[in-house]
Amino acid sequence: MSKIWKVAVIGTGDMGKQHIKGWQLAGHEVVSVTDIDLQRARELATQFNVKQVYQDYKEAIVDRDVEIVSVCLPLALHAPVTIFAAEQGKHIFCEKPLARNFREVADMEEAVRKAGVQFGLGLQRNLSVGVQTARQYVQEGRLGRPVIFHNDSLAQIRPKRVMHDADGNGGPLMDLGCHYYIMWQTVFASRPKTVYARGQLLAKDREELAHIAKLAYDTAQVTIEYETGDVGIFTVSWGLPPGVKLKAHVDRLYGPKGGLEGGFNNNAAKLTFYDGDQVSELHLESYASLHNEQFRLFVDALNEGKPAPVGFEAGKDVLALTLAIFRSIETGEVIDFGSTIE
Ligand SMILES: NC(=O)c1ccc[n+]([C@@H]2O[C@H](COP(=O)([O-])OP(=O)(O)OC[C@H]3O[C@@H](n4cnc5c(N)ncnc54)[C@H](O)[C@@H]3O)[C@@H](O)[C@H]2O)c1
Repeated sequence: MSKIWKVAVIGTGDMGKQHIKGWQLAGHEVVSVTDIDLQRARELATQFNVKQVYQDYKEAIVDRDVEIVSVCLPLALHAPVTIFAAEQGKHIFCEKPLARNFREVADMEEAVRKAGVQFGLGLQRNLSVGVQTARQYVQEGRLGRPVIFHNDSLAQIRPKRVMHDADGNGGPLMDLGCHYYIMWQTVFASRPKTVYARGQLLAKDREELAHIAKLAYDTAQVTIEYETGDVGIFTVSWGLPPGVKLKAHVDRLYGPKGGLEGGFNNNAAKLTFYDGDQVSELHLESYASLHNEQFRLFVDALNEGKPAPVGFEAGKDVLALTLAIFRSIETGEVIDFGSTIE
């Protein structure tokens, strides 16, 4: 029987709940939950039978029983909580995105390296079978080359207002885009070459966001060309009115021989394959839970004394691209990606 790891989940919002479920499904013990909103933490503790509840993440992390700290907090807290956990000698599994900038990343990496602990990053959507299938189809040349990957997201202004804060979660280009940037890199098996983006603030006059000092771009059109000539296109708006019924386009990947369509990184059970003039359904074996799967892979690495399969490297790749996108919006220029890597 393999080791049952003891986990402290910090933050009991949407992702905190997913982490508790995922760790328990993967056969590990969630020993505590923590949230500044104590009521919320207590409710989840009762629901999932977790013994300890804290309001202060430091108290939860110093508990001698805790071996893994699962960070499900707003982006600005990823660095301080990771650093504190590493200083206490705990392994860390942190939600995406990695951090707001490379200064924070450097401090996180230094703390983790000094402590000799492991750091995993929650890009679970990239484990979807749809992503692996897209990669296989592209790498086997079944769609021809180059391919264009077009991803679209439309939503009303986010009920979690921190999503709109440039100093908070950084808007959709930071918060949501990371899932697409890592997927493009995986499917194309290539590095970004040039970056061009335009950004707008559709929600700038909304009263609900008036308290935010610096709004993040809520709307953008992003075009990334990869070294292979493949192109990732992300069109997004989180600036639509509350209750809007307009829906995003389904994700599409296409090349000279045909295309694929569907929820590639949503753990979807099928994709549509357009092969020349033929159309067929590809039935995929989706996972019961991508969170369970990502924790299983992380713990396998811990058990074998290996680095986490997804960690700082993936997080830094995504952050470098995010920052290049912001730079392109701000300068109006096409950015040579190679010159932006810090
Ligand atoms: N991997 C994914 O698919 C995915 C999906 C959604 C969100 N996320 C990421 O997960 C992270 C959390 O997002 P969420 O949607 O769960 O947010 P959320 O707002 O639902 O939950 C965050 C929780 O953190 C708590 N909190 C804030 N400050 C705290 C502090 N100092 N100490 C303790 N608790 C504190 C809040 O009270 C809240 O309950 C973000 O980084 C987000 O980008 C990842």
